[in-house]
Amino acid sequence: MSLLTVRDLTVTAGSRELVHGVSFGLEPGERLGLVGESGSGKSLTAMATMGLLPPGLSAGGSVLLDGQEVIGRRDRELVPLRGATAAVIFQDPRAALDPLMKLGDQLAAPIRRRARREGRRLSSGDLRAAQIHWLDRVSINDPPRILSAWPHEVSGGQRQRVAIAMALACAPKLLIADEPTTALDVSTQAEVLTLLDDLVRDEGLALLFISHDLPVVSRISDQVIVMEKGRAVEKGSATQIFTAPRHAYTQGLVRAARRLEAALHPGEGAR
Ligand SMILES: Nc1ncnc2c1ncn2[C@@H]1O[C@H](COP(=O)(O)OP(=O)(O)OP(=O)(O)O)[C@@H](O)[C@H]1O
Ligand SMILES: [Mg+2]
Repeated sequence: MSLLTVRDLTVTAGSRELVHGVSFGLEPGERLGLVGESGSGKSLTAMATMGLLPPGLSAGGSVLLDGQEVIGRRDRELVPLRGATAAVIFQDPRAALDPLMKLGDQLAAPIRRRARREGRRLSSGDLRAAQIHWLDRVSINDPPRILSAWPHEVSGGQRQRVAIAMALACAPKLLIADEPTTALDVSTQAEVLTLLDDLVRDEGLALLFISHDLPVVSRISDQVIVMEKGRAVEKGSATQIFTAPRHAYTQGLVRAARRLEAALHPGEGAR
């Protein structure tokens, strides 16, 4: 059974349609990238698949997440699906973190939820071991210090690693990453991307990866959907999209990526 089947998804704000009939599917363990310029509808598409649209927006069409219809369901009915089936990492890790709660307590929440779901009793020693395990998995140095720190006491890269640890600790089948590295400096961006790539492989997760950056998306995804003005204008393998784009809009994205590459690495010639 497909993990995610999106059919003719629309998102509307009153009478304004923001996402126009997007369809795609994702099998367990598959990686799909959504790419497109700012405002093209990537985040709304991803949030609609989790039933997480902001107030005032509504979704139409059909989204089957692990066999369950998401569109039209009440928020309360979707709570079990979030975390257990799909977890999200946002561009700004502060969105996932409570500024008034120590990082260790925040990481404890998904660990406890998972244990409850699996009917396991969790001693304080088990909890501590799981917290350290997940911080190790996201390559955080000195886990004990991070566990007793407040969000503002750690770096942006460390905050994003904790947010990733919280998403993974739920043991989801699907990870949705919405511009997870955009807010980080360039070297941290590359580290976090490599980390995500490794974790998704090791944990056997499916990935819906969103970015405006085509080279980043094609590095981490197998299949890519290009969005423009709320429409999916091109779909293909990451290699095809990057090396032989068919749609004029995608060709523009590829040219822009190449120009940026040339500006960053002058003298290396066109690749
Ligand atoms: N809550 C909202 N109410 C009304 N319009 C919205 C709302 N959220 C987003 N939009 C509009 O919907 C369109 C798609 O927004 P979306 O956030 O999906 O874009 P995006 O592709 O994720 O862009 P970015 O790369 O900047 O994150 C934009 O035109 C945006 O202004
Ligand atoms: Mg967005």
